[in-house]
Amino acid sequence: MKALILVGGYGTRLRPLTLSTPKPLVDFCNKPILLHQVEALVKKAGVNHVILAVSYMSEMLEKEMKEQELRLGIRISLSHEQEPLGTGPLALARELLTENSDPFFVLNSDIICDFPFAAMAKFHQHHGQEGTIVVTKVEEPSKYGVVVSDTVTGRIHRFVEKPQVFVSNKINAGMYIFSPSVLQRIQLQPTSIEKEIFPVMAKEGQLYAMELAGFWMDIGQPKDFLTGMCLFLQSLRQTQPERLYSGPGIVGNVLVDPSARIGQNCSIGPNVSLGPGVVVEDGVCIKRCTVLRGAHIRSHSWLDSCIVGWSSRVGQWVRMENVTVLGEDVIVGDELYLNGASVLPHKSIGESVPEPRIIM
Ligand code: GDD
Ligand code: MG
Repeated sequence: MKALILVGGYGTRLRPLTLSTPKPLVDFCNKPILLHQVEALVKKAGVNHVILAVSYMSEMLEKEMKEQELRLGIRISLSHEQEPLGTGPLALARELLTENSDPFFVLNSDIICDFPFAAMAKFHQHHGQEGTIVVTKVEEPSKYGVVVSDTVTGRIHRFVEKPQVFVSNKINAGMYIFSPSVLQRIQLQPTSIEKEIFPVMAKEGQLYAMELAGFWMDIGQPKDFLTGMCLFLQSLRQTQPERLYSGPGIVGNVLVDPSARIGQNCSIGPNVSLGPGVVVEDGVCIKRCTVLRGAHIRSHSWLDSCIVGWSSRVGQWVRMENVTVLGEDVIVGDELYLNGASVLPHKSIGESVPEPRIIM
C-alpha cells in the first residue's frame, strides 16, 4: 500500500521551532513527528511507498528521508509543489498514487496517536465507498474539521471545517484512506480538501467515519505539543514501559536519550523528554517539558511547561514556565525569569520576560 503525507505547511503555529526546522522534522518524544507516522505505516499496514507532499524547506526533508528509505527498506518519494497547494496536493501526486488500483492513506503530518492503520484498511474495504476518515472526540471542536456521522454505520452526513457555531464534538483526526477515484474530484490548484471536497463527498454518501480508540493530539502548536507529549508518554507507560527512564530524582513518565546526562540532586518529571546530547546540571527541576537535542540546562534552574530548542543554553538559577518556547541555539542568561516567552533562534536573552511575548 501507499501513503501520502501532507508535510508542506509553514508550521507557523509551531514557531519559533519551525523557523529552523520544518514541522514534520521537529522531534516529538525524541523522534521526528514524521517518523512516528512513517514507521507506523510500515509496521501496521505494510506500506512500502510513502509520498511526501512538500512545499517548504524540502532540502532538509529530502536528506532525512533518504536515510530513512535505506533504514526502513521502503520507497519514499517527494512530490514538490511550486506554490503551496494547501491540503489538496493529491492531484500533483496522481501518477504515483495510481500506479495500482489499491486504496491509499493520506495523513496530516502533525498528529500523534496510536495509529490505527490496519483497522482503517479493513473498515474502508468493509463499507466499500470512496473515503474513510478517522474521527475522535475533543472538548474544543472549533479548531478542527467537525463531522456528523451515523453512530452505527459511520456514514458521514456533514463535514464542516472550523465551524463558528457548535455542530458536534466529533472531529477529523487528520488520517484518511481513499480509493483512487477520489483523485477525479481534486484539481491541480490550491485546494482545501476539508472545505471543498469532504462536504461534497459527505452529501453523496461517499465518506465514512471510523472512531479512534485511545489518545490523539494535533501537535502543531506548543501548548498542544506539550499535552501530546504527556499523552504519548502515558501510552508508553501502558504499552512499552521499558522505554521510559527511571533512576534517582526521576518522577513519573520520563523519556531520556541514552546520550543525555543528568547531574546530582535533580528532579526530572513527570512528563519530560530529554533528547540526545542534552546536559542537565546539578539541582535542576524540570516538569512537563521537551528538551531538544544538544541543549544544556545549567545548575539550579527550574522549568515547567517549556520546549527548549536544539543546542540552546539555559543559565543557572533560571525560572521558565507557562509554555515558554526557545528556538534553536538560544542563550538565556543566569537568574532570569521567562513566563510564556517565545524566543526566536540564535537570540541571547539578558533580561527577564515576566509577561508572555515574542522575543526577536
Ligand atoms: N503539501 C502541503 N502543502 N501540505 C500542507 C500545506 C501546503 O500548502 N498546507 C498545510 N499542509 C499540511 C500541514 O503540514 C499539515 O500536515 C496538514 O497539511 C494540515 O494542515 P494544518 O495547518 O495543520 O491544518 P489544521 O491543523 O488547522 O487542520 C487540519 O487538521 C485537523 C486535525 O489536526 C484539518 O484537516 C482539520 O479538518 C483537522 O481536524
Ligand atoms: Mg494541524
